[in-house]
Amino acid sequence: MAEKDLKALFLHRLKDTYFAEQAILKALPQMAVAAQAEELKGAFAVHLKETEGQVKRLEQVFQLLGAKPAGVECKAIQGIIEEGQEIVQEFGGGEALDAGLIAAAQAVEHYEITRYGTLLAWAKQLGLSEAEGLIQETLIEEENTDQILSELAEDAINPAATA
Ligand SMILES: [Fe+2]
Repeated sequence: MAEKDLKALFLHRLKDTYFAEQAILKALPQMAVAAQAEELKGAFAVHLKETEGQVKRLEQVFQLLGAKPAGVECKAIQGIIEEGQEIVQEFGGGEALDAGLIAAAQAVEHYEITRYGTLLAWAKQLGLSEAEGLIQETLIEEENTDQILSELAEDAINPAATA
């Protein structure tokens, strides 16, 4: 049953997360284009750069495991991204579009926080200390992004959407 132990599960979840980050890499530029407020466009651009680094970190973790970087389809992230695209279609040109985009982006961040949180716990359990460090770095970036988006929404975007 070795192929069904925690290490196998860790590798599977790593592939799932790798797939998700690639999907996010494609979605973020579209979200930046759709965003109306310059600050929000900027926040998406910054996170796009971070996401490129996160993909590289995942590749390093694959390497540490002696595995080739590969993705497995993750329906959860596809659904979350599609929901964001629906918001753009339904609220495009309206004053609440940016508020909807932030909500969609935070759903992505929360998805990622749960994925990286799990990977971190499993890396610890498996004694993969180098992987642990890499995952921790990304987890902090995701949490910071979530925080930045909350502040942006509360300080500027939600009030503007109410007008
Ligand atoms: Fe990410």
